[in-house]
Amino acid sequence: MEPISRRRALQLGGLGLAGVLAGGLGLAWQGSRGTRFDAAAGAELSEPSVLASSGGELALELTAAEGNLPVAGCRARVLGFNGGVPGPTLHVRPGDRLRVTLRNRLTEPTNLHLHGLHVSPAGNGDNPFLRIEPGQDFDYEYRLPDTHPPGMYWYHPHHHHLVADQIFGGLYGAVIVDDIDPVPVTRERVLVIADLTLDDAGRIAPASTMDRMLGREGNLVLVNGQLRPTMTAAPGTRERWRIVNACVSRYLRLRLDGQQLRLLGLDSGRLTEPRPVEEIVLAGGNRADLLVSTTVGSAQLLTLPVDRGTTGMMDMGMMDRGDRDDTSPPDGEATGTVLATVEVAGAAAAQPAPVPPQPAPRDLRRETVAATRTFTLGVGMGMGTGMGAGGMRFTIDGREYDPDRTDHTVRVGTVEEWTLINDSPMEHSLHLHVWPMQLLRTGGREVTEIIWQDVVNIPARNRVTVRVAFDDYPGRTVYHCHILDHEDLGMMGVIEAR
Ligand code: C2O
Ligand code: CU
Ligand code: CU
Repeated sequence: MEPISRRRALQLGGLGLAGVLAGGLGLAWQGSRGTRFDAAAGAELSEPSVLASSGGELALELTAAEGNLPVAGCRARVLGFNGGVPGPTLHVRPGDRLRVTLRNRLTEPTNLHLHGLHVSPAGNGDNPFLRIEPGQDFDYEYRLPDTHPPGMYWYHPHHHHLVADQIFGGLYGAVIVDDIDPVPVTRERVLVIADLTLDDAGRIAPASTMDRMLGREGNLVLVNGQLRPTMTAAPGTRERWRIVNACVSRYLRLRLDGQQLRLLGLDSGRLTEPRPVEEIVLAGGNRADLLVSTTVGSAQLLTLPVDRGTTGMMDMGMMDRGDRDDTSPPDGEATGTVLATVEVAGAAAAQPAPVPPQPAPRDLRRETVAATRTFTLGVGMGMGTGMGAGGMRFTIDGREYDPDRTDHTVRVGTVEEWTLINDSPMEHSLHLHVWPMQLLRTGGREVTEIIWQDVVNIPARNRVTVRVAFDDYPGRTVYHCHILDHEDLGMMGVIEAR
């Protein structure tokens, strides 16, 4: 029996037959003024507004609300922080205090999570168990340690069962922890990549059961809320792109053929020397810090398809939707989706100074391991508590998320080695709040570089070994699959450090 392909199923599940017949991308929504997405594409890239700390503090309000907001060059009925998709970019520095008043003007509960930041999970800090009711305000306060790694982070809601819907709706924004010694570049850009599906009325399309099981992928992939924006640059410049994959489930496989790319860092980790790359794969939640050296020409920033596998149910033919004869891939399946265009022209600019060597990152392979653990991510049959799971259970160690149960207790001040096992035929990832993970082995391969990530992909039917240093911050927090539909279905656990 041939399993239905994940992308194919997503199309059927997400758009319905009418959407597929209409061509899938863009044509389905004419909008109130008859605007087509294609007409909106190509505008110069804009960036979210910036709020920067001064004197060691950044205080701001974030209002989460629905509105008719500019998205993909049109006005769509989406969610936004402070009326923007994405919300404002926050610039902070190691040692800073960050105060955020979250105003919930949604019609459902929400809360706030600072993804990747190494801050306390306790009290009114980065506490994923808080529930801010509609109409309520809540004062969060975070203190970054003086040693906080610089880099790209992001914020998004984290109320269980609603995380995927609220991020898909437009609630996300970037956080940058600035470098103490800036990397010499011609310019910096923030690229927040997220996907969404709009219906005929310009509203966010609801996810089907199939979407949730596979992890929904929107039919529009936006950069800073824009569809296929253009970036212009002079030749000979060096740009620094800070990219976040804010897609609910989609993995990005990014290419920019014709321009020279070097990877400066991933998530909160920094390579000692920028490494030339041709493409980078970002699971949902991952970030890349990229250096782009420009040469004359027109280049496309593409994301190529990533096969995340199928659920076991589909392998058994139980989810067959009878479209096996359709062998023609939809647009973008083989060639990739264009996210943006880079136009490099004009007189050559002065080269910035070379990138100084970065401090060597900590290497936990040299440190003593106090405990080892395994985490097994699985998808099984049975009626779960996950809403709309289609008779499947999305579990870690055989259990669905329960905020009142502590699944693991670790000791503050120790280093642990974890084996992350994916027992299913589809990809999952593991994201741990507060403490980043150093990659040791993935898919049977030793990792020789020192690589730190806070979202680690675990290939289907495979395993990954990481080490984690629980240096500080007693408290309870969570780890979960960052295919956020899976998280909402229960693929999450609770860890307490003490
Ligand atoms: Cu980006 Cu717990 O999440
Ligand atoms: Cu997180
Ligand atoms: Cu998953």
